[in-house]
Amino acid sequence: MTEAAAATIPTPRARVQAMKEYHPPLGSRDALRLDFNENTVACTPKVREVLGRISAGSLTRYPEREPVEAIVAAHLGLAEAQVALTNGVDEAIHVLFEAFLDTGDELLLPVPTYTMYEIYASATEARAVAVQAADDLQFPFERLLGAITQRTKVIAIANPNSPSGSSATRAQLIEIARRAPQAVLLVDEAYFHFHGETLMDLIGVLPNLMVARTFSKAYGLAGLRLGLLAGPVDLMRWVRRVLSPYSVNSLALACLPPALEDTAYLDWYVSEVLAARAEFEAALDQAGMRRWPSRANFVLVEIGRCHAEFAGLMRTAGVLVRDRSSDPGCDGRVRITIGTREQMQKAAVALIETLTALKIKGHEQ
Ligand SMILES: Cc1ncc(COP(=O)(O)O)c(C=O)c1O
Repeated sequence: MTEAAAATIPTPRARVQAMKEYHPPLGSRDALRLDFNENTVACTPKVREVLGRISAGSLTRYPEREPVEAIVAAHLGLAEAQVALTNGVDEAIHVLFEAFLDTGDELLLPVPTYTMYEIYASATEARAVAVQAADDLQFPFERLLGAITQRTKVIAIANPNSPSGSSATRAQLIEIARRAPQAVLLVDEAYFHFHGETLMDLIGVLPNLMVARTFSKAYGLAGLRLGLLAGPVDLMRWVRRVLSPYSVNSLALACLPPALEDTAYLDWYVSEVLAARAEFEAALDQAGMRRWPSRANFVLVEIGRCHAEFAGLMRTAGVLVRDRSSDPGCDGRVRITIGTREQMQKAAVALIETLTALKIKGHEQ
């Protein structure tokens, strides 16, 4: 090998070189994790029973997703060909963008929103067009309609949205789908169970609508990486071309049916979170803190200049929260996941002590 050849290493595509690295914050074993919008208790015990019965022999085989996709499709009232299981919603976003976004295309994103849309878009040759929400962080419906062009190829909307907790109405989403027939409208219903409203019944009715759901939030299975993408057969067939046949592993596939079946456990967890959210919001209001109305299992709070110190002191107090200051239009704002009432009572005590220590007074930040 010549010296010049030895010094040369392969370079990635220009778009990849320009991409930002994503580093999720590291957790802590002993803390109350209110920074990832996870289930803060556990998944249903039925899942653990199934995990305990998994044999070493079954791990020698490649996973077979089709039978479980059939169960999920039946659960959603859809045809099998309309549903694909994915390695979390993250993979659903990735493969959807991979399948549809080409050079010169535009991805429309109301912001602030879930970080991974922009990250996966930046690995394609398309352009992400951000539509900024106003200070109330409500869904920027009119602005989004105004940003649709002939080049718009995908519109990604988290509903409810993170980190704001706000939601778009069904009528607004339908109108968007109609106004951009050349684009895939991805409605990411990661927080569906806390919101209760869905567009899943319009799969196959609106020809450009796709809906994603996750098992990482209400179901408490973030570590298994399980998500799903639903859409009309004519769109799903292209997604399947770029989706790995084995990206959902055997353990995740085995755990999905008992997770789906135990609706009592899911209902209990969701109602616990909704009760805790109301109590925690009341505590924030009493402290005079500005917050945004939430339809999900988290709440965004205005902390102001001391946002980083606030998150640091909360961590010291054993409660992890997520500083969202670097999100567009979110300077000084911190997102706090909602767990059970008991957990949130502890979090509220830590919050008040931290606000006092930092001399943060409500409405004065
Ligand atoms: C809106 C939204 N979509 C998707 C995800 C990721 O879901 P998954 O764990 O299934 O990849 C998140 C996680 O925070 C999210 O907030």
